[in-house]
Amino acid sequence: MSSAAVCSGIAAVDAYLDAGYATVPGMSSRFAAAVCAGLMRIQGELGVSGPVAEIGAFEGRFFIALAHALADGEIALGIDLFDWPNPEVIDRFAANCGKHGVPKERRIIWKADSRTMQPAELLAKLDGRPVRFFHVDGEHSRTALAQDLELATAVLAPEGVIVLDDMLHPGYPTLMVAVQEYLVRHPEMCVLCIIDRETIVAATKFVLCRQDWFKRYEEKLLAAYKDNVWPLGADFEPHWCLVLSLDTRLAAIV
Ligand SMILES: C[S@@+](CC[C@H](N)C(=O)[O-])C[C@H]1O[C@@H](n2cnc3c(N)ncnc32)[C@H](O)[C@@H]1O
Repeated sequence: MSSAAVCSGIAAVDAYLDAGYATVPGMSSRFAAAVCAGLMRIQGELGVSGPVAEIGAFEGRFFIALAHALADGEIALGIDLFDWPNPEVIDRFAANCGKHGVPKERRIIWKADSRTMQPAELLAKLDGRPVRFFHVDGEHSRTALAQDLELATAVLAPEGVIVLDDMLHPGYPTLMVAVQEYLVRHPEMCVLCIIDRETIVAATKFVLCRQDWFKRYEEKLLAAYKDNVWPLGADFEPHWCLVLSLDTRLAAIV
């Protein structure tokens, strides 16, 4: 299946995915953007509201999709060092948001280092409102991911989700160690689903949520993305979760 066949179910997001997403430089897959914005739609159906935040906003590719999935009155916070590959990246981020229909009142740009950020500082940017959807895509080291995970957890609404980029990526094998250690430190959290890679650049994402929200989200995701469910699921010993993929085949064994 091509990712072009996968939708979020939100007209503004799907229009951006079809006509704008590939034109904005970035590293997240269209498939993951469709499923993540679809998960935001599901949050709305379940009565979950609040802002979104992203560490590693870069030029805005994924951020714009999330911003289009916001409900009225909600806001998206884009955090980045905005120094790579050059200082003008922050201008390109703002220009991409404008070009693809995310108005200034819908977004907060924050040039900052997530490694030294305090939860209270982040919440202050959002007028104290806890985050319902947090995309973590900043520095890809084990230490930095552990810190970003703690930051995201500290500002997360009880019904919120945390999405982690570049999981199981051949170039970042130790990120999985940080996730496993986090899950041991936070038994209230679990992996809701794995969104399989499209390419080595547009890699796999993990979606985390609180254990007490797992079944509600899983049921809705299963219904929305039934054609993308890889039959065997993922084993987090003992927790099992959904694997969503563009390729749902199993190995032929006889
Ligand atoms: C892989 S890019 C993000 C791609 C983007 N999320 C997308 O989906 O297209 C990683 C970004 O993380 C940012 N970054 C790295 N370390 C950071 C830190 N400590 N604090 C904030 N941003 C950081 C980099 O500047 C870079 O723009």
